[in-house]
Amino acid sequence: MAELIGKNKINTSVFISGRGSNLKNLFKFSKQKQSLIKISLVLSSSKMAKGLKFAKSNNIKYLSINYNQKNIEKKILLILKKNNIHMICLAGFMKILSKNFISKFKGKILNIHPSLLPKYKGLNVHERVLKNKEKYTGATVHLVNSKLDSGKIIAQKRIMVLKKDNKKSLEKKVLKIEHKIYPEAIKILLTNY
Ligand code: GRF
Repeated sequence: MAELIGKNKINTSVFISGRGSNLKNLFKFSKQKQSLIKISLVLSSSKMAKGLKFAKSNNIKYLSINYNQKNIEKKILLILKKNNIHMICLAGFMKILSKNFISKFKGKILNIHPSLLPKYKGLNVHERVLKNKEKYTGATVHLVNSKLDSGKIIAQKRIMVLKKDNKKSLEKKVLKIEHKIYPEAIKILLTNY
C-alpha cells in the first residue's frame, strides 16, 4: 500500500455494526497531523449502531446498509468507488464479506479481533478465554482474506488474564489495547506493504 501514499491522505471507510469505539479511536487518529488516513465514509450494517451517532456528530459521511437487499455487495462497491475509497477498516462489523468483494480490495481491508489470533477466531472470545483458563489474551489486527479471522497478522498485543478477571473486565482491557494497535497496524500497512 506504500504506493498509495502521496500528498493526500488515504480515503478510508470504516465498517461498523455497533458501539463504534474503534471508529472513534480511528477518527481521532486520522485527525493527527501526521496521520496517513482520512475517514471519509462510515458504513454500518445496522441502522441502530451507536457508531452512526458519532459519525453524524462529527460530520463524517455515513450510511446504514440494509443487508437484506439483493446484490448488496455490488451496491456497496459502487458506493465505495463513488467516494474514492482506497482502504477499509472493519471495526466490529458483523457481516462476512464475500471472496469477490475482498478481491476488489485485496490487501486493503483490515479487521480487528479481540483475541490472540490464530487462537479464538469467531464470537464470544472472552467467555472462551476465561473458560479455558488462558494465561494470556489480547487483540490482533489482520488483513482480511476469504477465511474468517485468518488473514496476515499486521499487529498484535497480549495482556495477562488475571484470576479476578471476568468477561467485562477482560473486554475493557482488551478494548484498550485494540485502540492502541489499530492505528499502529494502519501505519505498518501503509508504510511497509
Ligand atoms: C471489538 O472488540 C472488536 O475487536 C470486535 O468487535 C468489537 C467492536 O467494538 N471485532 P467497537 O464497536 O469498536 O466498540
